Amino acid sequence: DWTPAHFITDTIEALQKRIGSEQVVMAISGGVDSTVAATLISRAIGENLHCIFVDNGVLRKDEYETVLATYKKLGLNVKGIDAKEDFYKKLKGKSDPEKKRKVIGKLFIDIFQKEAKKFKGVTLLGQGTIYPDVIESVSVHGPSVTIKSHHNVGGLPKKMHLSLVEPLRSLFKDEVRKVGLELGIPEELISRHPFPGPGLAIRILGEVTEEKVDLLQRADDIYVKALKEHKLYATVWQAGAILLPVKSVGVMGDERTYEFTVALRAVTSVDGMTADWAHLPYDFLARVSNEIINSVRGINRVVYDISSKPPATIEWE
Ligand code: XMP
Repeated sequence: DWTPAHFITDTIEALQKRIGSEQVVMAISGGVDSTVAATLISRAIGENLHCIFVDNGVLRKDEYETVLATYKKLGLNVKGIDAKEDFYKKLKGKSDPEKKRKVIGKLFIDIFQKEAKKFKGVTLLGQGTIYPDVIESVSVHGPSVTIKSHHNVGGLPKKMHLSLVEPLRSLFKDEVRKVGLELGIPEELISRHPFPGPGLAIRILGEVTEEKVDLLQRADDIYVKALKEHKLYATVWQAGAILLPVKSVGVMGDERTYEFTVALRAVTSVDGMTADWAHLPYDFLARVSNEIINSVRGINRVVYDISSKPPATIEWE
């Protein structure tokens, strides 16, 4: 009988056998899969697991600090790397979505490799690969067309000559969540929406600047907090705000404003392959719109995205 508790006991035992006294390095992102995988490996081998968590400057508001604190509470041996400035430098002048993805993916790998080398004697690479990833990476070799390249840590193992440790390879997402809860990982982290590797960089249309990241983080934070407060967060598959490269005229008091527009996106979906725009209540949208416009100077207009996938995609880039 499959139960989270049995899975945990069996996996820890298997990991201890497989890893022995070797050392494992792993990039963790704050997402469900990498967190659950790292926690399992950590329960098996303790300090011989070295985790790396990178602030790429396009995380959500306060995400770096919050996630790092959670990791410490979970007892993970984690090193936080604040690389914001490096990412902003590389992103400067880049407005093409695929170029932004490539820049972020490459810099991430460079940073990870550099940090991983500092741990002497590491021979294994931990990854939060789950069963649907295994299937998906098989189809990559087929005739399928890449519409958007997804850069997570897929490029890492080949370059680094490390063998993989992937304790979640046989699990579906709902099973990963159950295992995570059983391991004592906070519900808040376990029930997080998926968040793309290139983060807010692909939700800022066109060139990414630190100022735009700050605007979008604040708008997005208001939106996501409101979704949670109104018990809507769990009813959608993914939600977030997008900063459009459009300025329009508004009025604030007796002053004319000329500021950016934010689009709110929320979709229902089973696997992200197809998605419907979520019919969020008008009252809710009105409150979020008011709060963003009243408290985020630099944004004077909020719109709601009513496009489904296909033919639109979930992200705007
Ligand atoms: P689209 O926009 O293709 O998104 O409908 C489908 C799902 O994939 C996520 N996504 C990404 N995830 N790197 C990622 O790790 C990426 O470059 C990327 N692009 C899209 C998106 O958030 C949604 O969950």
